Amino acid sequence: MVRITLTNLRKTFGEVIATDDVNMVLEDGKLSTLLGPSGCGKTTLLRLIAGFYVPDKGRIFFDDRDVTDLPPNLRNTGMCFQSYALWPHMTVNDNISYGLKIKRVQGMKYTKSAIQKRVNDALELVQMTGLGDRTPHQLSGGQQQRVALARALVIEPDVLLLDEPLSNLDAKLRHEMREEILRIQGELGITTVYVTHDQIEALSISDMVAVMDKGYVQQYAPPREIYDSPQTLFVADFIGKCTFLDGEISGLGETLNVRLPDGQIIKGITPLDGYPFEMNEQVRCAVRPEDLHKAPTSSQDNSISGIVEQVIFVGSNVEVHFSVGDILATSLLPPEADVAAGSKIQLYAPPLQMMILPKGGVDALRKIPGHPLYASGE
Ligand SMILES: Nc1ncnc2c1ncn2[C@@H]1O[C@H](COP(=O)(O)OP(=O)(O)OP(=O)(O)O)[C@@H](O)[C@H]1O
Ligand SMILES: [Mg+2]
Repeated sequence: MVRITLTNLRKTFGEVIATDDVNMVLEDGKLSTLLGPSGCGKTTLLRLIAGFYVPDKGRIFFDDRDVTDLPPNLRNTGMCFQSYALWPHMTVNDNISYGLKIKRVQGMKYTKSAIQKRVNDALELVQMTGLGDRTPHQLSGGQQQRVALARALVIEPDVLLLDEPLSNLDAKLRHEMREEILRIQGELGITTVYVTHDQIEALSISDMVAVMDKGYVQQYAPPREIYDSPQTLFVADFIGKCTFLDGEISGLGETLNVRLPDGQIIKGITPLDGYPFEMNEQVRCAVRPEDLHKAPTSSQDNSISGIVEQVIFVGSNVEVHFSVGDILATSLLPPEADVAAGSKIQLYAPPLQMMILPKGGVDALRKIPGHPLYASGE
C-alpha cells in the first residue's frame, strides 16, 4: 500500500479555483475523509489523486514516487464515482471484470479462469456471492453500491478512492454499507480517501478528516481534534453545533479576554496555536451546547443570560434554545433541568471550553508560521 503526499496542489477551471494550496500527507493504510459543503472541491481533489485531472501547480507522490504526470491507469487506484456508474447492459460479473480486462490490454494478461476467480473473490468480499449473472437493474441500490465497490477492489489497488459512495442509499443501508466499507478497508489495510458532505459519517469512520471550504483545506486532523479544537470558525460551525458571540480582544495571555458589545468580559482560550492575536482585534467566541452549564451562582464568570425560546427533549438530555440579545444560543442540559419557554435563564461556560477564534478563516491561518497555508497565498 502507499502513503499519499500532496504538495501545493492547485486546480482551476477557467476562472474557478476548484482547489488551492493543498498540503497533506494521507498515511499508508489509513482512511482519510474529504469533508465539506457542495462545491468546496472534494471531487476535484479526489480526481487529482486518481489522475483524471492534472494540477495547475503542485505535486502528488505515492510513497516517494512522483505520480503527478502519470495517467490514471498507471497509478493503481480503484475509484467509486459519485454515482455508481455501473454499465447497465453488462452483468455484475462483466462490470467487475472490466478493470482486469483493461489491464490485460496493457500487457498484464490474466487467464479467463483467473479473472473469474478474482471476480468471485471480490463478490465474496462485498457479500454478493451468486449474484454475478444479474444486470444492475435487477439489483437494489445497496447491491449496486456493493458492485461498484467490488469493481474498484478487484484490481487490487494500492489506493481506494470513494466519492460519496453512500449518497444514494437510505439511512439504514448507509449505516450498513459504512460498516461494510470499514470492515473491508480494515481487512485489506488499503489507503483510502473517502469523500462525504456528512459530518457524522466523516467523524465516525475516519482516521483523519480534511475539512474543506471554497477549495481550501481548513483543517486536517483526527476526528476528535476537529471537534474539540476547530481551527477556524467555518470548522467550528460545520462540525457539530456552536453558539457564537462577537467581541474584541481586551486582554492577551494564556487566557484571552474578550469584551462583548454590552461590556461583559468573556474569558477563553484559543484552539488555534500560534495565531498572533492583537489587542482590540475583532474575534468570535464559540461554545458547544454541552459546555454551557447552569450557573451555580449569579456572579459566575463567563455567564450568559437570556430568555428561553424552546426546550426540546432529546432523550438523554434537553436541548434549550435561548436568545441572548439578537443571538440564538443552544445548551444541552440534564433532563431534570427545570426550564420552561419564556423564562429567564443564566448559564456559564468554563473558560477552558470557551473557544476564541479570529475572523477571516484561511487568511488567519496564513498568519501562523509552520501552518500548511502560511503565507502561501499568491
Ligand atoms: N469540469 C469542471 N469545469 C468547470 N468547473 C468545475 C468543473 N468541475 C468542478 N468545477 C467547479 O469547481 C468547484 C469544485 O467542484 P467539485 O466538484 O470538486 O466540488 P465538490 O466538493 O465535489 O461538490 P459536491 O459535494 O457538490 O459534489 C465548483 O465550483 C465546481 O463548479
Ligand atoms: Mg463532488
